[in-house]
Amino acid sequence: MSMSVQQLDLPEQFAPPVDEPFDMGQLRDAPSLNDIDTEKWDPVFNDPGHLVHVLITVTGDTHATVEREVAAIDVIFEVGTSQASLTEVKRIRGDVRPGDQAGHEHFGYLDGISNPPIEGVPPTPNCVPPFPRTFVLFSENDPGPVWARDGSFLVFRYLFQLVPEFDDYLLENAHPGMPKELGSKLLGAKLVGRWKSGAPIDLSPTEDNPDLALRNDFLYEGPGNERRCPLGAHIRKTYPRDDTTTPSPILRRGIPFGPEVTPEERAAKKTLHDRGLLFVCYQRSIASGFRTVQRGWANDTNFPKDQTGFDPIIGRCGAGRIRTMRGTHPDDMAKEISFPTEFVVPRGGEYFFSPSIRALGEVIALSSDPPRSSGCCFA
Ligand code: HEM
Repeated sequence: MSMSVQQLDLPEQFAPPVDEPFDMGQLRDAPSLNDIDTEKWDPVFNDPGHLVHVLITVTGDTHATVEREVAAIDVIFEVGTSQASLTEVKRIRGDVRPGDQAGHEHFGYLDGISNPPIEGVPPTPNCVPPFPRTFVLFSENDPGPVWARDGSFLVFRYLFQLVPEFDDYLLENAHPGMPKELGSKLLGAKLVGRWKSGAPIDLSPTEDNPDLALRNDFLYEGPGNERRCPLGAHIRKTYPRDDTTTPSPILRRGIPFGPEVTPEERAAKKTLHDRGLLFVCYQRSIASGFRTVQRGWANDTNFPKDQTGFDPIIGRCGAGRIRTMRGTHPDDMAKEISFPTEFVVPRGGEYFFSPSIRALGEVIALSSDPPRSSGCCFA
């Protein structure tokens, strides 16, 4: 369970940890992310008078397991009765994609490969070099109230993906000098930084190689080098490895939602059914975590180097501009390509604080004045 600051409503000694975007809430922070069109957000996230205060995430191997758990939570909070201590405002169902697409997000790329290693948890094979933990806040040396130690700020983004439009863009702008189908796959890999199998383009620059799918032990050799992976590729923008000295500040845990693309959508090259990613990330500060990655890196055309352009997957440019990026053309690194449409459209989200299990059980539950909540979002 994660709570937003507006409704923490804790006694004085349980003052919430300080973080500017957390204090503002995502709706007020939206302009800083170039989310200028909040009127298109899901109304649940776009009502300043009724912000979402609590996010309860339930995960499980089967729908039945999840539904059983959700029913148990409904009982605990007496949801739907006059005694309810929570009002459910939205229930969003995430799903692993079917068949060989399991683990892949809706554009078709394997997701959930690269995350900062967790202290005390054995590292995954081919992991990046260990960095100090960056997403759990308030270790002994960190500032902030004692009750919040070992908790994390949680960012939720409700991201819609325009899959037929993305695929059509790749075909129409396919890499030159090769069959169109192959050229579109190569362009896709250059925009994401990994092939659909998950293989990093940095390690396999010309073709997909599923044997490299989970490889994470690569460096870009500095922002001067983009022969293999464009500086603007999504994974290089959002974690530039040796292009900067900053360790990855977020730990991601997203899941797709919505149906598979239908033949009708394929034929029309247009999205007719809602689908996308329930993006969740944990960090010790939203200001230096999610907001830096989205605003300071993905949206900043001069990061990690001047004139890099936008992150083609999540970069947002604000009103009256068209997103561009360099580094995809084999013979002309300075050649700019443009993206007349967005492929990922945010429809809201919220900033939360995810207390440690210890804080929930030993502090908040035992408080004589426990937090009251008037909003709830099940994912
Ligand atoms: C619908 C939207 C998104 C899609 C389709 C998407 C897709 C992907 C894919 C395919 C990968 C490579 C697999 C992996 O390393 O786990 C990836 C990595 C990553 N993404 Fe996204 N992503 C999305 C949104 C975001 C957002 C909103 C952020 C943060 C603001 C973000 C940050 C990252 C980071 C930090 C990595 C790891 C890079 C690395 O360590 O090499 N992504 N994403």
